[in-house]
Amino acid sequence: MHYFKTEYIKYKNNQLFIEEISVNELAKEFEAPLYIYSKNHFIKQYRDFENAFNDVNHKIFYAMKANFNLSVINEFVKLGSGVDANSEGELFRALKTGVDPLKVILTSVGKTKNEIKLGLEKNVLMIKAESEEEIELINKIAGGMNKVARVAIRVNPDVDAKTHPYISTGLSSNKFGVDSKTALSIYKRRNDFSNIEFTGIDMHIGSQITSIDPFVEAVEKLSELYFEIQKDGLKLSHFDVGGGIGVQYNDEDSFSINEFAERTIPLFKKLDCEIIFEPGRFLTANGGILVTEVLYNKKNGNKNFIIIDAAMNDLLRPSIYKAYHHIQPVHTFENRNEIVADVVGPICETGDYFARDRKITESKSGELLAVMSAGAYGMVMSSNYNARRRPAEILVDGNNYDVIRNRETFDHLIWDEKIV
Ligand code: LLP
Repeated sequence: MHYFKTEYIKYKNNQLFIEEISVNELAKEFEAPLYIYSKNHFIKQYRDFENAFNDVNHKIFYAMKANFNLSVINEFVKLGSGVDANSEGELFRALKTGVDPLKVILTSVGKTKNEIKLGLEKNVLMIKAESEEEIELINKIAGGMNKVARVAIRVNPDVDAKTHPYISTGLSSNKFGVDSKTALSIYKRRNDFSNIEFTGIDMHIGSQITSIDPFVEAVEKLSELYFEIQKDGLKLSHFDVGGGIGVQYNDEDSFSINEFAERTIPLFKKLDCEIIFEPGRFLTANGGILVTEVLYNKKNGNKNFIIIDAAMNDLLRPSIYKAYHHIQPVHTFENRNEIVADVVGPICETGDYFARDRKITESKSGELLAVMSAGAYGMVMSSNYNARRRPAEILVDGNNYDVIRNRETFDHLIWDEKIV
């Protein structure tokens, strides 16, 4: 059986290790389900990204929505990254790490008054606006605070990112951004907004994109807009490409960050401004696993089921995007059979599954499995459905590890409720 591995997550003597730490040992101490991350994977991904774009004036803003544990954000901040925050809660979390607010971008297709106010109060680098009405509101709020808001307009380039429809965002039929024509008319009306300084142009066409073509198409389209704005006398200081770079979960097509850089750098060089990137998944996805214990094996008719102690509340991606995650033993044994089975959780929903009709090594009750590539959009999308306590999170660094979030207690489940 071929098992998924990376430089930092691999087998040694039949045991899965994250860096120098045995997954089995961690699971014994902290109980499954359990998220474990490799710090050095995060660092490597960040550095690879940085190095690929050495030749252009650029800046990375980690899209913290992918994994917003304070320690994870902090690792990227320590490396010099900025942060892309998508709500006041994310802004609150980001600032807890001590990141300079001038290294924070505030995103979201629907910001509330409070979010805009908070962004201005904290003096974030820029607010990305996604509608004309929002721009008017930002102008008004900034006016009331005697401030000038730095704003970038998110433009929807109308390109097909060819990814899962739920995470495709750059088509005109999607809710995100404004079309080029509207954007141009807003930039041209800039003098109507005395409390706004338009500093950038922004796109984000989707997530888990496995071809470079849609990025090139979108950057080319928005470059035209960039130059039209320049012709009108407005020199923007940044062009924000968003995130979306896909990673390898299974056998999908993929591209390396260097290939991505090779194709896009010539386009960026034509723009005389800072290029901003907002990667999330690229930095964290393959640096994390979700460890789970096999509870039972059973057969319904001809179908095999492996029932595990993790569920859709812990990792939602298979349920909502039919996402593929490798599932493999933490301890491998010789002479184990392969079976075809559904791997399912204990929640009372048919959608609570991790794999369907998957060819998988047989495993026995009490043994541990690792759900791979769970470092992005894993814990951040977890919930307490079925009153399940969220797992702990561990960050491994070589021979050391830290608990960066404890498993929730029963008291967490009811701390803000009362019986009336
Ligand atoms: N910038 C903006 C404005 C975004 O909306 C996103 C992701 C990113 C950057 C980062 O994208 P990335 O580099 O991670 O692809 N829950 C889904 C993914 C949703 C992505 C939402 N926006 C999943 O589990 O696949």
